[in-house]
Amino acid sequence: MNILIMGPAGAGKGTMSDRILDVYDVPHISTGDMLRENVKNGTELGKLAKSYMDAGRLVPDEVINGMVENRLQQPDCEKGYLLDGYPRTEAQAKALAEITDRIGKPVEIVLALEVKFDDLASRITGRRICPQCQAIYHIATHPSKVAGVCDKCEHELVQRKDDTVEQLKVRMDEYEKNTWPVIEYYANKGVVSKIDAAKPADEVFEEVKKALGKVA
Ligand code: AP5
Repeated sequence: MNILIMGPAGAGKGTMSDRILDVYDVPHISTGDMLRENVKNGTELGKLAKSYMDAGRLVPDEVINGMVENRLQQPDCEKGYLLDGYPRTEAQAKALAEITDRIGKPVEIVLALEVKFDDLASRITGRRICPQCQAIYHIATHPSKVAGVCDKCEHELVQRKDDTVEQLKVRMDEYEKNTWPVIEYYANKGVVSKIDAAKPADEVFEEVKKALGKVA
């Protein structure tokens, strides 16, 4: 299955991706996670990306496209892919179309998660993540068993630098300006499933499963 999951910051892309992986055997490719890994390891790519990410701005297309192209050529993508947070610009969508044509894995479904700004703000400010295994928590709606400690690997949880209301506004601006046209682009191809992602996570996942079931 070749899946894209899209939506604004905090819409639940990572949370739903984790659940999709319980059902579908495809690699989860999150450009945000890949970039954070590069920042953590101090790579050239990470050094370049850091200032954009901390400000909530999009990292330049050529950097992202190269990174995704390499990843999609790995053998595990023969099973398909779950792309999370990519493409976010029309240039990225065109690059993805070229890559997926070449590897014979066209996008089959785009899950477009929809949530209002106020809900996104409380999700973002309450989010805690595990920098070790990427597990996602929320202090109110999905707390870890021991406060501040990852349930899965016991690493200390952290708050992302870009998880502030101020940065969320910048990320929303980027989303409206650059990423809405991408959803339109896929809507014109007839592959978009809009998901009301403001509901509790279990209910959102029921909708996601229904949408995926139609193309599986
Ligand atoms: P990225 O890491 O992709 O961040 P994002 O798109 O801003 O999305 P988030 O990870 O913030 O949110 P999410 O939708 O995954 O929500 P989550 O499941 O965690 O990108 C970060 C940065 O990298 C970008 O700003 C940019 O600089 C750069 N970048 C990445 N990709 C790029 C690209 N393609 N091009 C250019 N630059 C790029 O959930 C959020 C919280 O809400 C959690 O606490 C969760 O527990 C909670 N929650 C989730 N669902 C629910 C629910 N249904 N009910 C209640 N709470 C919920």
